[in-house]
Amino acid sequence: MAVKALISNVNRHVGEEVRIGCWVHNKRSSGKIQFLQLRDGTGFIQGVLVKNEVGEQVWEKAGQLTQESSLWVTGIVREEPRSPSGYELTLTNVEPIHITQDYPITPKEHGVDFLMDHRHLWIRSPRQRAILTVRSEIIRAIQQFFDERDFKLVDPPILTPSSCEGTTNLFHTKYFDEDAFLTQSGQLYMEAAAMALGRVYSFGPTFRAEKSKTRRHLIEFWMIEPEMAFVEHEENLEIQEQFVSHIVQSVLRNCEKELKVLERDTSKLEKIVGPFPRITYDEAVEFLNKNGFEFPWGEDFGAPHETAIAEAYDKPVFITHYPTTIKAFYMKPDPNRLEVVLCADMIAPEGYGEIIGGSQRIDDPALLEARFDEHELSREAYQWYLDLRKYGSVPHSGFGLGLERTVAWICGLDHVRETIPFPRLLYRLYP
Ligand code: 4AD
Ligand code: MG
Repeated sequence: MAVKALISNVNRHVGEEVRIGCWVHNKRSSGKIQFLQLRDGTGFIQGVLVKNEVGEQVWEKAGQLTQESSLWVTGIVREEPRSPSGYELTLTNVEPIHITQDYPITPKEHGVDFLMDHRHLWIRSPRQRAILTVRSEIIRAIQQFFDERDFKLVDPPILTPSSCEGTTNLFHTKYFDEDAFLTQSGQLYMEAAAMALGRVYSFGPTFRAEKSKTRRHLIEFWMIEPEMAFVEHEENLEIQEQFVSHIVQSVLRNCEKELKVLERDTSKLEKIVGPFPRITYDEAVEFLNKNGFEFPWGEDFGAPHETAIAEAYDKPVFITHYPTTIKAFYMKPDPNRLEVVLCADMIAPEGYGEIIGGSQRIDDPALLEARFDEHELSREAYQWYLDLRKYGSVPHSGFGLGLERTVAWICGLDHVRETIPFPRLLYRLYP
């Protein structure tokens, strides 16, 4: 009896007969031999069917198979150094499950809109499979990083009564008779969790009704938000550079095949080990003004500015100490210079933009209350958040890593739309 196997583990079955549930990715025939390119999601393998060996009936069944038809195959696993997977199947039987007619995504080129309309099928292609595999590895590496450092995973709510990152891009919904918003960031809740569990992180979807149609913006994206009690600005940056180095090095180690499919220049990723360069906002402004921009102090950077700064480095760069006026209400002012805050954005190399935003948080209740007023936030809605400063306030810091921008950078993609299985973009909610 043939053993049931996955393409990813045929190496354990060399010389044995295996049975694999799969789809036809492609096929070609040369008279008395059919070559089936098979995929089962875990990998790709070539199945070779020889007419004289399998007989007329099996040969004809195989002849009906079309691109993306589903089937069971039975075959002997052989080592094949010339094949990309290193293995091949000498087929002894094929049992079609479903014969596909007119699969819309053919090996020819398709436009982006067409592919996006067929995203549910597009994810079957080798390139999309490679991206989603790297995404999965990044998530695994993230969980490993925090597990090894005594962090607890905490899940903040998705439906919230108030905003975290400003009120301009909130998704509004009704919560029975009350107003509610989809979360922009779990941070405020993570601060409460850090006071309970010390070191925590969340991993979940966040939503921003941003009317930006850029290659870096999603409406729904996934964020990893660590929050740490008794950690100040400097240590916050050190943890971030260890974190990002760990993610990149894990992908290099465990996704060699996928990075090859994506034709990623891995020499660029090999350089991603801490420490990362740090410049202040002031230095960044000076740099821009020396390099062809007219950039006034006090404004926020846009994509072209971030790219120009990133190009000066081959590692991610921290930009620290932004003006208080352009950052979130909860950031702690630099005690030596109250007009700037103890924050940092991490800008990825190669033009991928900001992948992390983080800061030390205000721990003084009076200052926080003053900020509520300046930002016109209702004290009532944030009473619980103020409580964290009234009962055993401690210095604490945290940050948020945008998963999709990180995937785009590590995979070397032009656009974040390919980094998530079903992207929610401006004007795209289907499929
Ligand atoms: O800089 P942001 O807005 O920071 C926060 O939300 C903090 N509350 C995080 C914290 O300190 N706990 O967002 C963090 C990251 C950005 O650096 C970016 O990588 C990503 O989230 N991001 C987006 N990614 C895709 N599409 C969007 N529209 C994004 N907005 C932010
Ligand atoms: Mg930010």
